[in-house]
Amino acid sequence: VGDSEFNVVTGAFSFTGRHIAERLLVAGKRVRTLTGHVGGVDVFGGRVEAFPFDFDEPGRLVERLRGAATFYNTYWNRFPRKGVGYEGAVRDIGMLVAAAREAGVRRFVHISVANPSEDSPLSYFRGKAAAEELVKGSGMSYAIVRPTAVFGPDDVFINNIAWMLKRFPVFGVAGSGEYRVQPVFVGDVAELCVEAGGKTENLVVDAAGPEIYAFNDLIRLIKESVGSKAAVVHLPAGLALFASKVVGWLAKDVVITKEEMDGMVGGITVSNEPPVCPTRLSEWIARNAQTLGRRYASELGRHYRDG
Ligand SMILES: NC(=O)c1ccc[n+]([C@@H]2O[C@H](COP(=O)([O-])OP(=O)(O)OC[C@H]3O[C@@H](n4cnc5c(N)ncnc54)[C@H](OP(=O)(O)O)[C@@H]3O)[C@@H](O)[C@H]2O)c1
Repeated sequence: VGDSEFNVVTGAFSFTGRHIAERLLVAGKRVRTLTGHVGGVDVFGGRVEAFPFDFDEPGRLVERLRGAATFYNTYWNRFPRKGVGYEGAVRDIGMLVAAAREAGVRRFVHISVANPSEDSPLSYFRGKAAAEELVKGSGMSYAIVRPTAVFGPDDVFINNIAWMLKRFPVFGVAGSGEYRVQPVFVGDVAELCVEAGGKTENLVVDAAGPEIYAFNDLIRLIKESVGSKAAVVHLPAGLALFASKVVGWLAKDVVITKEEMDGMVGGITVSNEPPVCPTRLSEWIARNAQTLGRRYASELGRHYRDG
């Protein structure tokens, strides 16, 4: 990186960060990424400089960020594993925030989640609230973008439901299935982040899509789109979780955690704001039915095996 302005995006080879980096490159910005996948598959053909997170060497982390105008933080751990809980993710984010401030970063765009709360019974949402406080207290100008449930190519949500519906004769829905979900397109989340990165005022905004589905209707839509003949059955949440563990054992992944299931059944990921992200899941699915669910997208594979 020379002496002109550049942006840093965490996880530019992974899910949301990749779409943010893409948009920044199209806008003519230079992009550097922090990632656990340095030396892995480079989807940008060398246009994005990649460095490790270097959490154990804060001084080096600061040097990686020096001169960056905006820092886009997607970093988080979806579930605690191998001794690293949400406290670990919050501590790591604290290091990123401190390093960005010390490096003179002007704008910090932080990707959180819809409805974080320090009083939530779910530690994921408490951790997200704690991370937001670190960003707000950093002294940097900030934007906090809070996605609902994100879909897009190779997502771990819609894609993996499609994969299960195509592969197994039965699909288990936890409880009544009447709880609501509000999917948002990853490209729209990225667009919102980049837009927020270009502003100067502090802001907090939900990234939510235009359609809200009862979970049953969402499953019906995916099922019809991919031509699945699976029988959809309703199971008590505990049994649905057990079934997901069996699928997880086959797919060598954690399909859904108890917290995620509790959150979904509680409708917690639905936004309370008018939606600002335009892409309709129904239209996106219609365009992508051929590839949807063809491959399982593995969280563990991505962050614990190939990393
Ligand atoms: N996906 C959703 O449905 C959804 C919904 C609401 C909110 N969000 C939030 O949006 C942000 C981005 O999510 P995403 O799904 O796009 O994530 P992602 O791209 O899979 O990962 C984002 C970043 O976190 C790092 N990371 C993730 N798990 C890790 C682990 N176990 N150990 C070390 N590093 C790890 C990744 O490292 P690498 O660079 O090595 O991959 C990447 O830099 C997160 O804050 C997430 O909580 C996502």
